[in-house]
Amino acid sequence: MSGNISSEKIDLLVYGPNKPIVDNGFSDQFILHPFETKADLDRLSPAAAGKIRGVAVTYSTARCDGAVMALLPKLEIVSSFGVGYDHVDANYAREHNIVVTNTPDVLTEEVADIALGLLIATLREFIKADRYLRSGLWTSTQQFPLSAGSLRDRKVGMVGMGRIGQAIGRRLEASHVPVVYHSRNPAPGVAYKHYPDLIEMAKAVDTLVVIVPGGPSTAKMINADVMKALGPRGVIINVARGSVVEEVALISALKSGGILAAGLDVFANEPTVPDELRAMQNVVLLPHIGSASVVTRNAMDQLVVDNLKAWFAGKPPLTPIAETPVTSR
Ligand code: NAP
Ligand code: 8YV
Repeated sequence: MSGNISSEKIDLLVYGPNKPIVDNGFSDQFILHPFETKADLDRLSPAAAGKIRGVAVTYSTARCDGAVMALLPKLEIVSSFGVGYDHVDANYAREHNIVVTNTPDVLTEEVADIALGLLIATLREFIKADRYLRSGLWTSTQQFPLSAGSLRDRKVGMVGMGRIGQAIGRRLEASHVPVVYHSRNPAPGVAYKHYPDLIEMAKAVDTLVVIVPGGPSTAKMINADVMKALGPRGVIINVARGSVVEEVALISALKSGGILAAGLDVFANEPTVPDELRAMQNVVLLPHIGSASVVTRNAMDQLVVDNLKAWFAGKPPLTPIAETPVTSR
């Protein structure tokens, strides 16, 4: 895998929604070919496809699967937006000597903020309280009822203790909340108790904060058995991927009192959210906004650009994913 320095123009596919930082981020050494959706790629001529050496994926709705990469015989690098890259076929890329990069670190603290905010909003019923005030009930009736939930008597089991999991852990520690975690391997340098078994951890805590990658190894890992182990005081916060939580089991546990409440930033079939969830009072629902502030999204867009620029300047990419390590330039 190598990016060659040459005086020739470098053709890039810009795949996904228009992003000013991407559109304006390249010098005139680059030729950009913007295509918003997979269906639009039907209009990419074979002549242009044959010249493209890099792809900037500007949002996770632009699925960069094997069929897309197969259109581009000279493809060297896919620079993808987001730390999660379940919308890019990393195995196809590795098998075809294509480097994939993502945008870790620049969003870690932002997503951790959202996770803690969502946890507190869920426990202390912010959304219900806001509706109560706006509807005039505060002035016409008594005080808003006390919340059943509180951070004060909770023990959190983190599902995932990577970059974002650790940033959430720091926030919980600062709030004097005990933390333990589940992941396949103990996280180096992390002092919280590690549970290799998710069910054992769910039995030992009353709150799960889910922050693992999507994909086959985590699909529906938060299932009915985990919810049963968590019990009726249980609260589930999912800022990972909708695929990680068995949504039907979650709806059933929330309805039956099998668990107390949930705070969800991600869903199985985005942007569609089941009507049953939308009708529930004991859930807080966010439209996948974990990293969605101007400052953080700009930093992510810039990293998409910088990975491509580094590669085509003959340097190693800044943030390659584990499946496509760059062993030589
Ligand atoms: P990371 O540093 O790679 O951490 C991933 C963590 O998940 C590690 O602790 C890893 O430990 C654990 N893990 C991976 N596979 C697992 C499995 N099969 N079972 C149990 N644990 C597993 O990633 P990150 O930067 O923290 O990001 C995590 C994920 O958050 C992203 O991939 C993305 O899907 C999601 N995310 C969502 C938003 C949002 O807007 N809601 C924003 C950013 C990120 P082991 O490898 O030891 O298991
Ligand atoms: C992205 C995310 O904004 O980084 C991730 O993994 O989930 C978000 O930060 C989202 O995937 C849109 O691309």
